Amino acid sequence: MNRDSKIYVAGHRGMVGSAIVRELKKRGYENIVARSHDELNLLRQADTEAFFAKEKPEYVFLAAARVGGIGANSNYPADFMYENMMIAMNVIHAAFENKVKKLEFLGSSCIYPRMAPQPISEDALLTSALEQTNEGYALAKISGLKYCAYLKRQFGADYISVMPTNLYGPGDNYTPERSHVLPALIRRFHEAKVSGAKEVVCWGDGSPLREFLYVDDLAELCVFLMENYDEEETVNAGTGKEVTIKELAEKVAAVVGYEGEIKWDTSKPNGTPRKLLNVSKAAGLGWTYHTELEEGIRLAYDDFCKNFC
Ligand SMILES: NC(=O)c1ccc[n+]([C@@H]2O[C@H](COP(=O)([O-])OP(=O)(O)OC[C@H]3O[C@@H](n4cnc5c(N)ncnc54)[C@H](OP(=O)(O)O)[C@@H]3O)[C@@H](O)[C@H]2O)c1
Repeated sequence: MNRDSKIYVAGHRGMVGSAIVRELKKRGYENIVARSHDELNLLRQADTEAFFAKEKPEYVFLAAARVGGIGANSNYPADFMYENMMIAMNVIHAAFENKVKKLEFLGSSCIYPRMAPQPISEDALLTSALEQTNEGYALAKISGLKYCAYLKRQFGADYISVMPTNLYGPGDNYTPERSHVLPALIRRFHEAKVSGAKEVVCWGDGSPLREFLYVDDLAELCVFLMENYDEEETVNAGTGKEVTIKELAEKVAAVVGYEGEIKWDTSKPNGTPRKLLNVSKAAGLGWTYHTELEEGIRLAYDDFCKNFC
């Protein structure tokens, strides 16, 4: 990419898209095109094609998606599959038809099998059954990354993909029905602190192990891959470190300053027991994360307070 290359960031108002725009600007890329969801609904194929034909971007970061936590994913599997499949196919296909030089597709670590050997390497893809609670979402994301790989294989298109672990940071979604575990905990502990509640009840038993990556670290990797990576296989993005959900809840409570009790509702699902990415491929390319979890939670909570308190 040149500093004046025309770059389309799909989903630029979302947590990942806005972090990619920040990173691009930090590195001197200024020719960024964007459309909000209201201006361009990427579920509409004709509108998506018309946008690409008019704007002719040279590079595309595809960070638009219907995203949600375990509750939203298990309640609305049809919506998650349909919307993510359509967005991926419409954007990647329109990009290819309009000769976009390079495209980077954002997937998610939930594309990997539920019982994949840990830490999960890129080659675990499609080796066994997926986690049921987010199967629809995972199938859509697998289709997106495979479509990029097939365009490369069939036509030599320089279309790549990246699979991040759980993300958090500025611009996260704090809506109870749609949020992921970390932003959900920030909001619930904050509200409990403000209302003086004596206890907060969390889903599951707190035992699942999870990995969390600060979104600005991911954005750095996304731009780095756009500049330096051109292989068919996807690239995992994570820290390589894990915490139990119970430990995470305790860390978030400490940052927020909530001093009440944390209880666990074991009638609610835990999700995958353990999900840690093998990040040696990204490390081999020269990237590593630099925001530790406590620091990242502090930054995320500052952003939450700025926007919602
Ligand atoms: N958040 C995570 O923990 C996480 C982890 C791993 C991977 N990822 C991946 O990273 C990508 C971005 O996630 P995120 O956390 O940044 O999500 P987000 O904050 O919800 O942002 C998604 C963006 O996509 C836009 N969008 C959704 N449907 C659209 C449509 N039909 N037409 C146009 N725009 C549409 C949204 O606009 P509106 O808000 O206006 O609808 C929003 O700006 C996704 O591919 C996701 O799979 C996220």
